[in-house]
Amino acid sequence: MPENRLILTFDSGLGGLTVYRELALLLPQTRRIYLADDAAFPYGRLSEDVVVARVMDVLGAAFRIVEPDVVVIACNTASTAVLPHLRELYPRIDFVGTVPAVKPAAEQSRGGLITVLGTSGTVRRDYTHGLIRDHAAHCDVTLVGSETLASLAEQYAHEPDDKGDAFDDALIAELAPCFIEQNGRRTDHIVLACTHYPLLRERLEKLAGTRIGWPVSFVDPAPAIARRVEYVLGLRRSEAHDRCGPEAPQVWTSSGKVDDLSRRLFASYGLEFSPEFSFPFEQD
Ligand code: DGL
Repeated sequence: MPENRLILTFDSGLGGLTVYRELALLLPQTRRIYLADDAAFPYGRLSEDVVVARVMDVLGAAFRIVEPDVVVIACNTASTAVLPHLRELYPRIDFVGTVPAVKPAAEQSRGGLITVLGTSGTVRRDYTHGLIRDHAAHCDVTLVGSETLASLAEQYAHEPDDKGDAFDDALIAELAPCFIEQNGRRTDHIVLACTHYPLLRERLEKLAGTRIGWPVSFVDPAPAIARRVEYVLGLRRSEAHDRCGPEAPQVWTSSGKVDDLSRRLFASYGLEFSPEFSFPFEQD
C-alpha cells in the first residue's frame, strides 16, 4: 500500500478516538487526520435532518483542504443517517461507517437476550431497526437510548482519576435499563452503539459485575472497522493526488480550538492539534 494514503476519521467529539486507536495500530504507515465536530457535540440530541446537513457541511469544508482516500465516520449517530448521502456526492472517496454491532452480538449471544445501547438518535433510526430485523430476528433486543452517556465518557476520558461515587451513580442510571431478566434468561451482550462508550469500558465492566446487573460482554466494533479500512485501502487504485494530508497525524476541531485536557488526550493517541480548520455551528 502506498505510504501517502490519507485516512480521515470523523466524529462529533472524542468517541471516534476508540476507532482511531485501532486504525493507527493496524495501519501505522498511513497519513491520518482526526476531525471532531466539537462545536456541534453532542449529535445525539439533534434531529436526523440536522445531523445529515451538519456532517455534509463539515466534511465538505474539510474536503476543500484535503482529499482523503478513506473517510471513517466513527460515529453511529452520524453513520446511521448520512452514509448514502456522502457516497452519492463523493464517489471518489471511500466511506467506512460505524453502525451498531447487532450482527456479531446476535451471533455470539447464548441466551438470545441482547441490548443495543446508543444515543437517543441512534436507537430511533430506521437504519438501526433494519439491522435488528435483518440480523437479530431470533433474539429479543432491548434498545436503550442515552442523552448523557457520551458527555460522561468525554469527562472520563479527560480525567479518569477524579471520578467518584456520584459519577458511578450517573453511569448506573444510564446502564441499568440494559439488564433484562426474562423467563430465566438474562441479557448476555450489550452492543456499545456509540463510539464514545468504549472510553468507559473498564468502568462499565466493573459496575456490571458489582453494582448493577451481572457480568456481560460489551461489543465494540472498532477492531473490525480498522480491518475493513485496511481492506478498502487495499482495493483502491494508486492515484497520485497532491492534497494527501500532513505527514504527522493531526487533529482538527470544528471549533478551531482545543482545551488543555483534550490536547493532552489527543497527544496520548499521537495526535497533534492543528488550528487550520474551523467550522462554527449555528442553530436556529
Ligand atoms: N460518538 C457518537 C456515536 O457514535 C455520538 C455521540 C454524540 O455526539 O451524541 O454515536
